[in-house]
This record gives sequence, structure tokens and C-alpha cells, in this order.
Amino acid sequence: MEKRVDKTYPPIREVTEGERVGMVKDIFSTITSRYDFLNHFLSLRRDIAWRRFAVRKMHFFMTNRFLDIACGTGDLSIEAARRYPEISVNGVDFVREMIHVGQEKVDLEKLSDRVQLMHGDAIHLPFRDNTFDVAAMAFGIRNIPDRQGALREMLRVIVPGGQVMILEMTFARNRLFQVFYNVYLNHILPRLARRFSSNPAAYHYLADSIMNFPAPDEFTALMEGVGIENVDAYSLTFGVTYLHVGTKTRDA
Ligand SMILES: C[S@@+](CC[C@H](N)C(=O)[O-])C[C@H]1O[C@@H](n2cnc3c(N)ncnc32)[C@H](O)[C@@H]1O
Repeated sequence: MEKRVDKTYPPIREVTEGERVGMVKDIFSTITSRYDFLNHFLSLRRDIAWRRFAVRKMHFFMTNRFLDIACGTGDLSIEAARRYPEISVNGVDFVREMIHVGQEKVDLEKLSDRVQLMHGDAIHLPFRDNTFDVAAMAFGIRNIPDRQGALREMLRVIVPGGQVMILEMTFARNRLFQVFYNVYLNHILPRLARRFSSNPAAYHYLADSIMNFPAPDEFTALMEGVGIENVDAYSLTFGVTYLHVGTKTRDA
């Protein structure tokens, strides 16, 4: 397990894009060993249901290949490989510590013949155009300052008719629920993080990044703005998380 670190991170609004990328790398390389446990615990295991929902919406029809971007410890890759035995999966992430944990899980699940996790940046995906039926990102885009760049890369690597999927936490729009969620994110979560995480400041960043993420309609517009078509947005658990799904035009 990582040594406990006593850090602070500046608010997202006060850092440059480059500094933010550095923060993200630092955060995910210092919380790796407890990442899965805290994900499940802090979301009351909703994260598992949210990934499952996304996987059920996937449609494999041409290459039978799935790309999991910002794959972290591989949960979305594993869930997709379990559900669709005919597909092969590539996962990319730019924090090696996360990939190592993910690869161990893939090996334990005996999926290493179909699931390969590797180092890579969402902004420069190491794949040719039109390679995958589906490109998805779970809880990754919030951490990427150049969101349009990442979405363009997703669109580039999928086949015409393929799907781009973004699963992401957002600040719930329901006013009543917002009161509870605000207290949870800014008061309960930091306390739990101090108790359980090796880098509690990472969970201040988590709250900050959720509260600064665009509203679902704005995110739909962002996807459409880079040329993703037929975008549907699914609200999950009172709008705490959204799944956005769009397609690449068949005329491309
Ligand atoms: C909250 S974790 C999500 C991991 C995983 N997708 C899941 O469902 O648990 C965010 C991940 O995004 C990765 N990440 C952030 N920016 C990235 C980028 N530009 N390229 C690749 N990975 C990135 C981080 O390293 C981290 O592993």
C-alpha cells in the first residue's frame, strides 16, 4: 500500500491546463492501491451499476473491438469483456500504477487473451482511424482539460456507425438533492477520505472536479460540436452520473 502523503492541491479554476494534467497524474499515482475500494465504498457501489449500464448500451457490429480510454484499474474493460465474449478490448491510461493494478485484475479474471491494458494519452491515442466499434471513457473526461481534443480522438478511432460513450459524475441538477450532495461532497467525503485514503487531498480535487463539470445539456452540445451525432444522455441515480452516447456518421 502507498505511504500516506500530506498534500494540498489548488482549486481547478486557479491552475493552467498543464498544471492540471500534472495534478491528475500525481493524484492517480498516489491513490492506486485503495482506488477500487474507495470507488465502491464512496459511491455505495453505484459505480459498478453505472459501468454495467454503459456496457449494456454497447453495440458491436463490425470490428468487435472496444477501446476503454482512461481505463484506470480496468473495471469497464473487464465488464465489457465479460458481457461480450466475442470482443477484444484495449485499455489506455497515462498512469502506469493504475494499469499495473488493472492488469493483475485482468489476469485473475483469465481475460488476458482478450483484454490488453497499456500506457497511452487520451489526447493522442496510439491507434489508427476506424479501428473500434465502441470507444468509451468512464470517469475520465472530468480530469482532461482538453475535452474537445479527447472527444475528437475518440471519434477518429471508431468506425462509421460506431459509438462514443462518456460516463461521468456531475453535480446533480435536482435542487433538493443538490443540498444533500453538496454536504456529501464537501463535508462527508473529505472526512471519509482522511480516514481511508493515502492521499486525502485527492478527494478535495474529486469534489472540485465534479462541481466544475459542465451540465448534461452543455456536455451534449460539446459532443455535437466535435461532430458526434445522435447524442443521447441518460441520467443515473438522481443525475449524480450521466451516460452520454453518440455515434459517428456513416457517411464519413
Ligand atoms: C477516476 S479514474 C477512472 C478509471 C476507470 N475508467 C474507472 O472506471 O474506474 C480516471 C483515470 O483517468 C486517467 N487519465 C486522466 N487523464 C488522462 C489522459 N489524458 N490520458 C489517459 N488517461 C488519463 C487517470 O490516470 C485515471 O486512471
